[in-house]
Amino acid sequence: MKVLGIESSCDECSAAIVADGRILSHIIASQIPLHAKYGGVVPELASRAHIVDIVEVLRGAFREAGVDPSEIDGVAVTQGPGLIGSLLVGLEAAKAFAYARNIPLVGVHHTEGHLLAPLLDTAQGMDKPDFPFMGLVVSGGHTNLIAVRGVGQYEMIGQTLDDAAGESLDKVGKMLGLPYPGGVQIDRLSTGGDRDKYHFPRALPQHDNFDFSFSGLKTSVATQLRKLGAMPEGQALADLCASALEAVVDSLARKTIRAARKIGAKTVVVAGGVSANRRLRERLSEDCAKAGLRLSIPPMKLCTDNAAMIAGLGQYRLRPLIEAGKGFEAFELQPRPGWSLV
Ligand code: KG4
Ligand code: ZN
Repeated sequence: MKVLGIESSCDECSAAIVADGRILSHIIASQIPLHAKYGGVVPELASRAHIVDIVEVLRGAFREAGVDPSEIDGVAVTQGPGLIGSLLVGLEAAKAFAYARNIPLVGVHHTEGHLLAPLLDTAQGMDKPDFPFMGLVVSGGHTNLIAVRGVGQYEMIGQTLDDAAGESLDKVGKMLGLPYPGGVQIDRLSTGGDRDKYHFPRALPQHDNFDFSFSGLKTSVATQLRKLGAMPEGQALADLCASALEAVVDSLARKTIRAARKIGAKTVVVAGGVSANRRLRERLSEDCAKAGLRLSIPPMKLCTDNAAMIAGLGQYRLRPLIEAGKGFEAFELQPRPGWSLV
């Protein structure tokens, strides 16, 4: 069964072909340079770039897989959440393709895609997580702790009440005059920094609270910057970055381990762009080891926004439609606008 996946929810235009859990091709056109000078993703520019990129990205996916479009059995596309103008480009491309080939199409949830990405076969031969596992999805748009008891069986254990983890780092980066995305720069600059130099607040520390709040971080950093008087450089900048990052990582790690214990999970899965962060990886591997938990972080290309995870998730919903010989009439979107994962 060959599934074409398409993802265009934010600033990555991506297409992938997955056959029975194996990735045959995976193309991602990133728009980071386009948005860098604005310090964040500009939705209007993102949709226009998707319009330009989508056909070439699709062609690339077929070329890399050595697969002819006539061999595709079904299509999965990110339906949301995301920027509506960006989503529409991928969705319409997916509809056009599925209609032309008369094959089934399913719209899937972006966050669910992130969560199940470790179930794909990877070249690294990573061990797949057993159910139930605790999923931590951390990116510029989401910070969710989700108990995954099986494909389609989710329970939201906690989420951010304001900024997402990546968003808070990006905002701190902006205040420090760093290039976009700030999270990446803070990771780089915090090397050699003293993470205990400044104590930035950890919100909602109560043991039974699994929600996050990161909006206080930028206020605390702003206060610290005023105290310093001048924009920090060198070691002072490294210390500030390391301390700010530690506040985010500390909250994420503590709550993730507690949440995993609460649901009796044996594995913690981390997904989303912030999972690239070296300190988060280090801290989670230490804490998971201490707690007797296995840590599963997919390869980087499957952590950030990508179409392979969309195709991978789509397989589960497409299989019965394909086996029943359905065509485009089996077009299946999620029912409600603004729907949530759980
Ligand atoms: O998943 P992603 O590519 O896009 C979405 O937001 O959906 O995640 C991007 C986010 C940005 O906030 C970026 O600053 C953050 O992930 N990020 C990092 C690192 N790499 C990406 N944050 C900290 N350390 C990193 N190495
Ligand atoms: Zn994402």
